[in-house]
Amino acid sequence: MRSAAIGLAVGLWVTAANAHLAVFTKGMWCLNGADGNNLNSDDPVTPLYELDQSQWWFHAINGCNNRPPADGDFLTLPAGESITVEIAANQGVTSLSFDGQYVSDWPDGQSYPDNYVRFFAAIFDTNVPSCITSPNMHTQNQSMAAGTALAIAYVSDVADVTPENLVVFSVAYNTPWKRETTYDIPAELPACPDGGCICAWGWIPNACGEANMYFEGIRCQVTPGSNSKPVGTPKPPVWCEDDSSACVTGPKQMLFWHQASGNNIEVSGLDLAGEFKSPGYNAKCGFANGKLYHSLGTVIFSG
Ligand SMILES: *[C@@H]1O[C@H](CO)[C@@H](O)[C@H](O)[C@H]1NC(C)=O
Repeated sequence: MRSAAIGLAVGLWVTAANAHLAVFTKGMWCLNGADGNNLNSDDPVTPLYELDQSQWWFHAINGCNNRPPADGDFLTLPAGESITVEIAANQGVTSLSFDGQYVSDWPDGQSYPDNYVRFFAAIFDTNVPSCITSPNMHTQNQSMAAGTALAIAYVSDVADVTPENLVVFSVAYNTPWKRETTYDIPAELPACPDGGCICAWGWIPNACGEANMYFEGIRCQVTPGSNSKPVGTPKPPVWCEDDSSACVTGPKQMLFWHQASGNNIEVSGLDLAGEFKSPGYNAKCGFANGKLYHSLGTVIFSG
């Protein structure tokens, strides 16, 4: 264990310097890193910025797309219930590494107050809120956290996934925040094909740093309920903070933003808070909180 602890210390130092956050779960692409051998991996966590679609799609930029989950490893989605997954800066501080001995309530294995905020006070002697950088959550506090989402494509081969068949089915407002993050699963989610489905996790922070995108692949399967309905064809979301009638109703694609190619949303100017618009998994782009079904404006299923 000694060498593991030293390895972790190195991993955390790297994390503090440049890493961000992503989901670590059974079924994920890039478990144990792009080389398949790193219990302190932060490979799925590296932000995606101004990349060609071939590079950001399933995190090809560092080879995560070539590291599928082991046969039989799935994230299971129980229709009508919820799942809790871990969001972390490094696999070393999740339950997937070292028997979970380095986990804490937070994504970096450290401890913070529940109402964690950071102020510029040390610099300016004021109470102006600053951005939390450890862990690198790209937010000033929980209420400003932009939101994260899970999406699903009803295909088993990742090569068959496209932005046009990847449907957002659950959003968690005010995340990422603590390590354990809960997503509600729509009761109507149908069963997957025999080989399972391909899911994806996404996050676009609201400022507090570069306009990054996070996009990660997860093999998933659904335990269906008795009222399954096929998912509809998703449309690209649009910015609708100032006019909710402009929001895309019905199934929505994930948000693909600030890349060199493959974007599906463009924004310009300032939001209602006077900050540069930053599309996210929240009401500003028409995403309701929780499972996206039977909620006006966010029905994701046809039929
Ligand atoms: C969270 O941060 C925002 C932006 O700085 C600030 O307006 C808000 O008052 C903060 N909320 C809390 C509860 O600290």
